[in-house]
Amino acid sequence: MGFLSKRSLLYALCCLCLNLGVARDTISSFQSLEDPDYVISRGSSFRMGFFSPVNSTNRYLGIWYNKISVVTYLSVVWVANRERPLKDSSGVLTIYEDGNLVVLNGQAEILWSSNVSNSVPNSSATLLDSGNLVLQGDTTGAIVWESFHHPCDTVLPRMKVGNNLRTNQKIQLTSWKSPSDPSTGRFSAGVNTQNIPQGFIWKDGHPYWRTGPWNGQFFTGAQSWVLDYHRGYTLVYDKEEIVYSTFDYVNGLGLSKHFLDSQGNLKQLLWDDGKEDWEVVGFALANECDFYGTCGAFGGCYALSSPICSCLKGFEPKIVEEWNRGNWMSGCVRRTPLQCERVNNRSEGVGKADWFLKLEMVKVPDFAEWSYRTKDDCRKQCLENCSCVAYAYDTGIGCMSWSGNLIDLQKFSTGGLDIYIRLSYMEFENKRNLKVIFTITVIIGAMAIPSTAYFFWRWMTKKRARKNKSRESLPSKNLNNVKLHELPTFSLEELATATNNFHVANMLGRGGFGTVYKGKLHDGQEIAVKKLSRSSGQGLEEFMNEVFVISKLQHRNLVRLLGCCIEGEENMLIYEYMSNKSLDAIVFGMEIVER
Ligand SMILES: *[C@@H]1O[C@H](CO)[C@@H](O)[C@H](O)[C@H]1NC(C)=O
Ligand SMILES: *[C@@H]1O[C@H](CO)[C@@H](O)[C@H](O)[C@H]1NC(C)=O
Ligand SMILES: *[C@@H]1O[C@H](CO)[C@@H](O)[C@H](O)[C@H]1NC(C)=O
Ligand SMILES: *[C@@H]1O[C@H](CO)[C@@H](O)[C@H](O)[C@H]1NC(C)=O
Ligand SMILES: *[C@@H]1O[C@H](CO)[C@@H](O)[C@H](O)[C@H]1NC(C)=O
Repeated sequence: MGFLSKRSLLYALCCLCLNLGVARDTISSFQSLEDPDYVISRGSSFRMGFFSPVNSTNRYLGIWYNKISVVTYLSVVWVANRERPLKDSSGVLTIYEDGNLVVLNGQAEILWSSNVSNSVPNSSATLLDSGNLVLQGDTTGAIVWESFHHPCDTVLPRMKVGNNLRTNQKIQLTSWKSPSDPSTGRFSAGVNTQNIPQGFIWKDGHPYWRTGPWNGQFFTGAQSWVLDYHRGYTLVYDKEEIVYSTFDYVNGLGLSKHFLDSQGNLKQLLWDDGKEDWEVVGFALANECDFYGTCGAFGGCYALSSPICSCLKGFEPKIVEEWNRGNWMSGCVRRTPLQCERVNNRSEGVGKADWFLKLEMVKVPDFAEWSYRTKDDCRKQCLENCSCVAYAYDTGIGCMSWSGNLIDLQKFSTGGLDIYIRLSYMEFENKRNLKVIFTITVIIGAMAIPSTAYFFWRWMTKKRARKNKSRESLPSKNLNNVKLHELPTFSLEELATATNNFHVANMLGRGGFGTVYKGKLHDGQEIAVKKLSRSSGQGLEEFMNEVFVISKLQHRNLVRLLGCCIEGEENMLIYEYMSNKSLDAIVFGMEIVER
């Protein structure tokens, strides 16, 4: 808390007099923005000013879509003084003596500050057309603070959510308390970086929903979260060791945002110009099984069965009466001790080795440990280590293994991953039918709430439509011979020279199927080389498809494809290099080819 000196108050007042009310996008030193004035970004996409949420008289400094006339909970994308509202319309946004951007009330108290520790002389704040509010130092023009690094409940295209592993800085969403109260609510969302990165929603800091591991294309355990690389959604580890997820719509879908609502659901919204309303196209929590850990340890959740929870095969309820009453939190325990545990107990002697039971199409449990192994080695290392209770292998992810409890395992009717659960050999002798894992009583009529069914159906049709569409547009095998002849080829040697042997210093980023390097051809042309990783799971056919689709899209000015390189086991695509602002488009553009 602090008070303006008389001098700077005079300055501020003076500038208010000079404020001609013309829409501008920048607030410079000694200028200010006074309620009800506003600024508009240069491309007219966003507006910043003071607003009151529905059913509230409090005033907040916020950023919202310029095109949506009514300022609501859904149209506001960022709020400054969310914890300290103004009680009247005396609010002022200005650049403070120390160069920070501040919101002041009528008594010149600081209600909010950009709080940059080093003072920034003669700084200015600009609302960019992306919706990002940036504070720049006058002398260098360097951005010292930006609202995209301090999000509230909304992610806009090109904004990143994640963790900088070097500085340990986290960029997370936090929900509003209610649609009429922007102060920090109980829910937050972000990316977890332990072991394999996953998206999370937390409630009061505890896991509430989980995406399952990212496989390079989509989150393997988030079925109604329609975002995947087709839609420009990606999760990246770059050389700065920043793990983040971001999304982008190269084909200009209009207004779109992701937002964490006050009830804790993450939603993807698209603005419908015709209806003048938001359409929800994706959301995190669709049914009871989506709530983290619904069925406890070693329990599996299947939304289409009744009851939804059952113990995994070989396990039984820890507390039977509780379990039967529908209180599943205490979970299940192993029925027959593992052989490897007996071997360690000399008095029981050696018997047949443990086996693995395969569960298909699941959201794999939380706390997977990742290792770089082949599928066979993955199984072997799990079998050899008695504390390994399960493993899974996916070409896009690699080897995952679990020790301790299996938490938050969900069964799907489509998609998901396969997991192998370690069981005593005796469990297999008892029952022959290995395929029946969950006792599934499908009661379609009683299937959750009708809306769940509706959204599930919608999601399925969309998914199917997308699949069909991509299949149509995919070329047949003859592409190999036909189209590639039209595309210039580069030699591996040439590309190695251009990128200094794919030196890590030339790495632009890593995402989706491979790593992208910057390079320079001998004629001086700058290029970006996408080197597909061998373990990526993208086969030659998919590679060809990508080449085909991108060359088809060239005229749309997406990313200019210069050629390709197929030599030995290396598959590479060569693009024209574009400067910083198009960097994301280069690195990830090629994975956003069709919807
Ligand atoms: C505003 O208040 C009215 C009346 O209490 C209520 O019906 C409405 O749902 C409220 N709107 C919001 C967004 O809270
Ligand atoms: C400003 O930043 C400092 C650390 O740089 C922190 O201790 C302080 O709580 C912050 N103040 C506000 C109002 O966020
Ligand atoms: C800031 O602006 C004032 C007034 O224009 C000028 O006198 C001063 O030299 C500037 N300071 C810096 C560090 O640029
Ligand atoms: C070893 O097995 C015996 C017989 O089943 C049992 O009584 C004992 O508790 C076991 N010891 C350990 C350390 O598990
Ligand atoms: C067995 O697995 C546990 C848990 O992953 C690990 O801590 C331990 O080091 C492993 N033991 C061996 C011998 O690899």
